[in-house]
Amino acid sequence: MKVDFEIPKHVGIIMDGNGRWAQRQGKARVFGHRAGMNRLKGIVKTASDIGISALSLYAFSTENWRRPKAEIEALMGLLLEYFNKEIDELHENNVKIRHLGELSGFSDSVRKAIINAIERTKNNTGLQLCIALNYGSRLEITNAVKAIAKEVKENSLDIDDIDEKLISSYLYTKDLPELDLIMRTSGEQRLSNFLMYQAAYAELIFVKETWPEFSDELFIQTLREYSERNRRFGGL
Ligand code: FPP
Repeated sequence: MKVDFEIPKHVGIIMDGNGRWAQRQGKARVFGHRAGMNRLKGIVKTASDIGISALSLYAFSTENWRRPKAEIEALMGLLLEYFNKEIDELHENNVKIRHLGELSGFSDSVRKAIINAIERTKNNTGLQLCIALNYGSRLEITNAVKAIAKEVKENSLDIDDIDEKLISSYLYTKDLPELDLIMRTSGEQRLSNFLMYQAAYAELIFVKETWPEFSDELFIQTLREYSERNRRFGGL
């Protein structure tokens, strides 16, 4: 698929509103998460088709562990289903899967599914699909600070060598293109601990539709809106 405008290299999406979408129809929140997973498949396909380099999806935050146990279990079930059922097609489409976040905290089966998906697709050269699971920016930055401090203490790094580039290389997003754009669905306007360091110069676009309602057409329309913005990176 070709679009007639300039596409961003790296897009982040906060997939919000599954629960509200379901509840509005008198259905359980989990029904919304399943619809959300189906929408995720479509958006990943579109992103891959139009040639986006990296797509980072906020699927489960470090704060999401506070949700009711049954909802967490349902989300983990969907995750397993996604990794197990979609991996063949993703691999065929040359998609490279990455994980943003901490692997600790997940059950063995979820952890294995994530590791297996990364391993299986590691040599692919198409879309880098970065799934943020057990992800939080504050945790990411905290872990980077600890790792850097450890190297300084062990004399393998000099304090004067610490710069923005070095810090970036300690984040889960290392080697990914600069984040150009964050989209958030469902009308909420905040970052919720997602890619805060990386978002320094990213454009932010908030759409009113919930994630299950976020069609491929709306996705393309949002990318077009991005292409019409004037990015100056602090210059004139
Ligand atoms: C936000 O909706 C969504 C989530 C917390 C989870 C995102 C999960 C999916 C899109 C589906 C499964 C993911 C994968 C990777 C297969 P919400 O529950 O916060 O909605 P609300 O704000 O209306 O309550």
